Amino acid sequence: MILIYTPIEKELNHYRQLFADACPDVSFVTEVAAQDAREIQQIICWGAPEGFFNRFSNLQTVFALGAGVDSLIARADLPEHVSIVRLLDAGMAAQMVEFVRFGVLYYQRQMLRYSQQQREKVWRKWAPTLAGDLHITVLGAGRMGSAVAQALASDGYSVSVWSQSEKSLAHVECVFGDSAFDSVLARSDVIVCLLPLTKHTNGLLNHARFSQMKKGVAIINAARGDIVDELALIEALTTEQVGFALLDVFQQEPLAASSKLWALPNVVLTPHVAAMTLRSEAVNQISANLRRLINGQALEGVVNRAVQY
Ligand code: OXD
Repeated sequence: MILIYTPIEKELNHYRQLFADACPDVSFVTEVAAQDAREIQQIICWGAPEGFFNRFSNLQTVFALGAGVDSLIARADLPEHVSIVRLLDAGMAAQMVEFVRFGVLYYQRQMLRYSQQQREKVWRKWAPTLAGDLHITVLGAGRMGSAVAQALASDGYSVSVWSQSEKSLAHVECVFGDSAFDSVLARSDVIVCLLPLTKHTNGLLNHARFSQMKKGVAIINAARGDIVDELALIEALTTEQVGFALLDVFQQEPLAASSKLWALPNVVLTPHVAAMTLRSEAVNQISANLRRLINGQALEGVVNRAVQY
């Protein structure tokens, strides 16, 4: 018996149906009576509230219905021996590539300027910036970061990827480690954040970092809001030290109505939609892992809790 949980009932019922179709031999439930909680060894979930896992004393594996698992790591109700398994890509990398391409093109084609001119009925042309003129750094070389970096390189941009440990990707400069971080930021025109949120990346893009970047740099954050110090970003956008930001994630979601980000003219923001979990892809991936589990094989996407991703 495997428990499925998401806080949205319609979504929960859809997942139960999809899992039942994909794995007819497995029994999926969306509710468990207190006396049966001990029977649950696997949970498939997203958005489980704090304390949710406490009653499952025989829990072995949590399958996240998402790629980022920061909200599951370091929780008091998920002891170390419970494996956390995240989605790898599951249709999200292709969406992320589109989202980042949109932001890069918006910046490169000077759409902030032209949309302002449109509002003011101004007919004025600016010299073009070509793809080859822009150096883009992608922070994070996981599935999303690698797919984005390679797509941008194939579009003709000069692309670097920064990651914590050494990586190698065709047509992309790969730099790694703390010592390479500030220097790659300082030579970038566009910085794309696709890092996992961990104790090392929390607040990584802060006032000091913004002030070392090129004047007018573009920031795209489609990872987690807490990686960016939001107040420092607002200040940098106000002084145009950061020229443009495309933001999909925020320190508090939904973004508070009082946030200055809503009204800053050099910000485009979206409500955490850059790369959404595709239910059928997620079910295929988790079902394949359930079959591995049944056959005693190693699972794919198991989170290393020491590094938090
Ligand atoms: C995810 C997300 O991590 O949607 O999957 O942010």
